[in-house]
This record gives sequence, C-alpha cells and structure tokens, in this order.
Amino acid sequence: MRLTIVAATGGIGRQLVEQALAAGHEVTAVARYPQGVPTQARLVAVDLARPDQAALASAVTGADAVLSALGARTAADRGVATRGTEAIALAMRATGARRLLVVSAAPIGTVASPARPRPPHYDPGDGFFMRAVLNPLVKVALREHYADLARMEDIVRASGLDWTIIRPPRLLDTPLTGVYRTAYERNLRRGLAISRADVADLMLRALRQPETIRKTVGVAY
Ligand SMILES: NC(=O)c1ccc[n+]([C@@H]2O[C@H](COP(=O)([O-])OP(=O)(O)OC[C@H]3O[C@@H](n4cnc5c(N)ncnc54)[C@H](OP(=O)(O)O)[C@@H]3O)[C@@H](O)[C@H]2O)c1
Repeated sequence: MRLTIVAATGGIGRQLVEQALAAGHEVTAVARYPQGVPTQARLVAVDLARPDQAALASAVTGADAVLSALGARTAADRGVATRGTEAIALAMRATGARRLLVVSAAPIGTVASPARPRPPHYDPGDGFFMRAVLNPLVKVALREHYADLARMEDIVRASGLDWTIIRPPRLLDTPLTGVYRTAYERNLRRGLAISRADVADLMLRALRQPETIRKTVGVAY
C-alpha cells in the first residue's frame, strides 16, 4: 500500500515507518525535522503548527491511508494535534485520499470538547481504580494536552473521511509483541499500558479491517 505517515520522527511514528517499510509498503514520511527518517521513505518536511497545505497535499496525494501519531512534545507545540490534523484532513479531502488513522489517548472519551460538551463521566471500560484515582489525576496534569486531543477527535469525526481513532493508555518503549486486547468505543478493563510498537502494529493491521472505519478503538495488554 501507499502510506503517508505523519509525525514520522515520534515514538509511534518511528515504529510506523519501520514496520510499514518492513511489510513492503511504500512510505511517505511527514516530519518537521527530517533527520533520522529512513532513506527508503519519501520525505515531506512540514511544520504542522504552521501547515503548508501544498506540501501536505503532495504528501497525501495517492495515499491508500494516512497514519498520524501527531501530538505536542513540549508546551511550545500546544494545540498541534488540532491544528495539524485539521490541515491533514483538508489536504486529504482536496486530493481524494480517504483513509485516516490517528492516535489519541485512553482518557479522551471523558474529556469535554466543542462537539462533545457533556461527555460521559466514565469510560465504560474503566474500572474503579481508573475512574476514581488515575484518570482524575492524569486529567488535571495533562489538561491542555487532552483538550488538544479531544478537539482533534472532533475534527476527525466531522471530517467525512474513513477514519479510525486509536486510544492507547500509557505508552511504553518495549518491543513489538503483536499480542494485545482491543475494544470499540471503550477502554480495556485493567488495561494500563501498551508499547508504541504495538500501537503501530494495530494501526497497520486496521488498514486491512474495514470494520474499524468510523470507530474509536481502545487498546491495551
Ligand atoms: N505518553 C503516553 O503515555 C501517551 C499515552 C497515550 C497517548 N499518548 C499520545 O499519543 C500520541 C503519540 O505518542 P508518541 O509517544 O508517539 O508521541 P511523541 O514521541 O511525543 O511524538 C509526537 C510527534 O508529533 C510531532 N510534532 C509535534 N509538533 C509538531 C509540529 N509542529 N510539526 C510537525 N510535527 C510535530 C513530533 O515531531 P518531532 O519528532 O519533530 O518532535 C513527533 O513526531 C501523542 O499525542 C501522545 O500524547 C501518549
């Protein structure tokens, strides 16, 4: 397949590029700082805080799918998931690319956003510890980051594209296992973590699973 991988130099992004190339896909990598992107990938340099629509259009033209693990690394990147994903969706609609997979985060189902001003208090997959202890703490600590991801989800759902939103819990840099649980529209009970490599594996698998289109997918060990 022809795949465009956005945020190709990030933790999940690197795994996506590596695994996609190993599987024989043709890869276009979108990154703001191109150093370190494997030379087998076509590279398009774009700062998604100030997206160049023409460059993005060239990156997604002819893509069978666009996979994005874009997110703010530092406070200076604040809002980049919303801004960048909006620009990606625009470029996809302009060029006819349809399949979009993005990485969000497990708590986002309970984070308010303009399109979901009153989200449920609890994710149906979360047990007592998540609901009562971990989520409230994490949501305070990462309030702005989660608001960005929640707005990104709004944009993806309203995009008219064939989208899938992946909501992982805590990300690890442990090796690929290919063995993890998934659930639609909910988190996984006692699912506290997943490796970046396995999130990438799930995203690449989802390309062959049309049932994941217009779904939010929880994933965890
Ligand atoms: N950490 C966790 O435990 C956890 C849990 C659940 C969900 N998540 C979310 O999952 C997503 C992916 O995670 P990750 O670990 O792969 O993230 P990451 O390593 O921090 O990667 C973020 C990517 O976004 C790119 N980016 C940021 N600002 C950009 C800009 N202005 N223009 C272009 N690219 C930009 C970064 O580019 P550079 O490489 O150039 O910096 C990097 O490639 C993030 O949204 C993260 O918040 C994280």
